[in-house]
Formats: sequence, C-alpha cells, structure tokens
Amino acid sequence: MHRNCETIKFAVISIPLIRFATAQDAHAIAAMSRDYIEQGLGWSWTMARVRAVISDPCSNAIAIGARSAIIGFGIMQYSELSAHLALLAVHPDCRQRGLGARLIDWLEQPARIAGIERILVEARADNPRAIAFYAKHGYSECGRVVRYYRGLIDAVRLEKRLAVPVHESRSVL
Ligand SMILES: CC(C)(COP(=O)(O)OP(=O)(O)OC[C@H]1O[C@@H](n2cnc3c(N)ncnc32)[C@H](O)[C@@H]1OP(=O)(O)O)[C@@H](O)C(=O)NCCC(=O)NCCS
Repeated sequence: MHRNCETIKFAVISIPLIRFATAQDAHAIAAMSRDYIEQGLGWSWTMARVRAVISDPCSNAIAIGARSAIIGFGIMQYSELSAHLALLAVHPDCRQRGLGARLIDWLEQPARIAGIERILVEARADNPRAIAFYAKHGYSECGRVVRYYRGLIDAVRLEKRLAVPVHESRSVL
C-alpha cells in the first residue's frame, strides 16, 4: 500500500543562525550602530572601529543574517573579571521575535564559562526600551554617567552578576 505523501505535513521552523561577524560585515554593523544606537550623537562606531573589534581576540562580534542583509548583531568585550556589552541591535522590522534575547544569551555564555563575575553595559538614558530589555535579562542599574554620550546624553550603567561556578571539593584518601 502506497503512503500518500501529500497527507504528511511538515512544520518548518525557521530559526536564524547566529554566526561570528567577519571583516566583511564591518560596514553593515557600523551602519546599524549609527542608525539604531547612536542616532543623534554622531558616529563613534565607525567601520574601522568595528573591524578592529572583530579581529580583537578578547572580543566576540556576532551577527544574524547574510553579509548584505544583517538583521541583528552584538559585540561583547571580555576581560579577567568582567565583560562589557559594547553594542547590541536588531533591525526594527525584526524586533520582538526573540533575536535580541538570543544574541545576548550567546554573548553571555563565554563569560559564564570563563568564570567572569559581572557584565557591564551602558544604555542611553533616553532609551527606556533598551533599559527595560536589559532589566528583563537580569541587568540592574548600578549608576548613571552624566553626559556620557558626546557630552549630550546621560548613560544608565547596568550590571549583571554571574553565578561563580562552584567547584566540587575533592576528598583526599
Ligand atoms: C533592544 C533590542 C536589541 C531588543 O531586540 P529584540 O529582538 O526586539 O528583543 P527580543 O525580541 O528578544 O525582546 C523584546 C521583546 O519582544 C518580546 N518577544 C520576544 N519574542 C517574541 C515573540 N515571538 N512574539 C512577540 N514578542 C516577543 C520579548 O518578550 C520582549 O518583550 P518586552 O519588551 O515586553 O519585554 C532592540 O529593541 C534594538 O535593537 N533597539 C535599538 C538599539 C538598542 O537600543 N540597543 C541597546 C542599547 S546598545
């Protein structure tokens, strides 16, 4: 008896892949930073600066989407005890689908594995949506830097404390 393939339905779930950004992505990332993060402030995350951080071994720069059509990206810089979330943005047409959450989760994982104690991030004080987003992801306000952005806009500084791994004690025989 033949099986009627037409009756078999497949659910196709499309989950955009997160990948490492490359030097070829620097232009698109810098443009998104200018348009969605630094709007009204000039442009500090230029292509050259983004390219430098992409090649920095102490940073992770990740992206969602093809080179010509990046829809989201994030950059985190890691040091011995703390990490700094430098940039995070999702294209306006693609927000509220969980991409921001996936990017921040991805960037936090290496910090957890490395035993880093806290992650710091600054958000524009005039960006309550970003502040609420970070709060939802476990970041709490720890300060305010007056006129942090180009001497014009305050920054709200937030931090997330990571659980320090508990090492099992070994019994000595
Ligand atoms: C902040 C930012 C990165 C969040 O990205 P995002 O992709 O929209 O984030 P998420 O989709 O994970 O979460 C946003 C909201 O969508 C909701 N959401 C997630 N998946 C969803 C889904 N499938 N359907 C409906 N809502 C959903 C989340 O619950 C969250 O809701 P809340 O705001 O009520 O808490 C994005 O708004 C952005 O790029 N802003 C401009 C740049 C910026 O401010 N960057 C941060 C400072 S550097």
